[in-house]
Parts: sequence; structure tokens; C-alpha cells
Amino acid sequence: MRQVVVTGGGTGIGRAAAAWFAARGDAVTIVGRRKDVLDQAAAGTGATAVVCDLTSPDEIESALPHFPDRVDVLVNNAGGNTDLSVPAGGGGDGSQLSHVAQRWRANFDANVLTAVLMTTALDSRLNDGARVITIGSIAAKTGATSYGAAKAALEGWNVSLATSLGPRGITANVVSPGLTMDTEFFQGKLSDERYERLVAATRTGRPGSPDDIVAAIGFLASTEAGHVTSQVIHVNGGAYSGH
Ligand SMILES: NC(=O)c1ccc[n+]([C@@H]2O[C@H](COP(=O)([O-])OP(=O)(O)OC[C@H]3O[C@@H](n4cnc5c(N)ncnc54)[C@H](OP(=O)(O)O)[C@@H]3O)[C@@H](O)[C@H]2O)c1
Repeated sequence: MRQVVVTGGGTGIGRAAAAWFAARGDAVTIVGRRKDVLDQAAAGTGATAVVCDLTSPDEIESALPHFPDRVDVLVNNAGGNTDLSVPAGGGGDGSQLSHVAQRWRANFDANVLTAVLMTTALDSRLNDGARVITIGSIAAKTGATSYGAAKAALEGWNVSLATSLGPRGITANVVSPGLTMDTEFFQGKLSDERYERLVAATRTGRPGSPDDIVAAIGFLASTEAGHVTSQVIHVNGGAYSGH
């Protein structure tokens, strides 16, 4: 039985990934900040829930006893665009440098530090041949101010990670979704106009689903994918033609 850790496993893509691994007989640990959300997700899959803010080194240190001693698959999925949480008109004047700095740091913390800190904390527990899969975004290529920049930073970090873990037979890859529905990502703020524009940019004429993303995660987690490492796998219906 593999030991699988999925961050942000209480909702959206992470929840679907956790359910996918659990359905295949893997032991799954899900991580997030909201206990009620995690408990609800865990109840459906038998996963172990760990409440932890992954931007906090102290919280991760405290939570370490609740993670498995050995880890076969780590899915760094927690994240999102923190700009979407800024209330309209409540975030200060965008021209104020302190406000700009605050917003950029928030997206860096939410998307880069969550993955870097979790991976570093579990590094010594990764089994030989383990898999580290980090969720990026099409925004790394198409732009989205601090969110896109943070996701682009993950791609650079992943190359270093693949280099350091390669001698242990461990792969490290990024799965980079495009528009993916049935998640909490947009927090109800996706307008019809923007939805239609994003779907029109695909070659498939539809948005992605969490299962589309999980298919790529599942492949990268497989034994057969042992020679695929240091890559960015795009799952976006062709909205961005990866190169
Ligand atoms: N949906 C899309 O269109 C789309 C497109 C490209 C990339 N992505 C990426 O896909 C990943 C999954 O997002 P999603 O679409 O499934 O949205 P989601 O439903 O909002 O999932 C994000 C999850 O991350 C958790 N999380 C966020 N910050 C955290 C923190 N500091 N510590 C621990 N857990 C944290 C959240 O739980 P708590 O709030 O309870 O902590 C939530 O369960 C994200 O990295 C996102 O950037 C999504």
C-alpha cells in the first residue's frame, strides 16, 4: 500500500486526487486549513486529515507527527490566487507600494512556500522511487500578475528539486492546469464573460474538470513514469500550447 500525501485535499482538484488514490487502495493523508472541510472529504475516502497552514514553518513542524513515516507520493496541490480574496475596494490603493508588496507576498506564500516547505519537511521520509507532483498553472505562461509569477517560480524550483531527488530514483514534476471547474478556486468571482473567453481559448471547447488533472497526476505517480522528471505537463485543452 502506497502512502500518499495530498495538500489542499479537502476541495477541488486535491479532493479528486485524494479520492482517486484512495479508490486504488493507497493510504491517503490530506492537508488543509479548514478542519470541517477536511473531515467531510476524509469521511468519503477514509483519508487521514491533517489541519495545517502550509505557509507556516511552525505549524508544519507541529503537524509532522501526523504525517506518515514513509511517503511514496506527495501531491503539492494547495494554493490559489490570493488576489481573489481581497475584497473589492478593501485592499487599499493598488499604487501604494506596501499594498503591492503585501499582495505579491501572499501569492508567493500560498503557492510557492506551501510546496517548498511541505516538500522540505517530508524530504527525509520520501521513499526511494517516490513521486513529487506539484500543481502549477497556465497562469505561469499566460500571466496573472503575482499569481502567475508565483506559479512560474514553482517551475524553476521543480527543476532543482528533480536534480536533488533524481539520485534516489524520485521524480519531480509540475502538472499545470488551465481553467478547471468544480473547485473553490474562483470563489464565485468568475464572470460569464471571462468563462466564455477562457473556454473559447481551448481547442476542446470546454473547461477542464478535476478528473482531467487527476489523470495526469495518476500517470506521473505510476511506476511506469519513472523516467519522466523535471517536466511541466500542461492540461488545458490546448489553451496554451506548451513549449
Ligand atoms: N481551478 C482552476 O481553474 C485552476 C487552474 C490552474 C491551477 N489551479 C491550481 O490548482 C490547485 C488546486 O486548486 P483548486 O482549483 O482545486 O481550488 P480550491 O478548491 O480552492 O483548492 C485549493 C485547496 O488548497 C488549500 N489551501 C490553500 N492554501 C493553503 C494553505 N496555506 N495551507 C494548506 N492548505 C491550503 C485549500 O484549503 P483551505 O482553504 O481549507 O486551506 C483548498 O482545499 C491550486 O494550486 C491552484 O492554484 C487551479
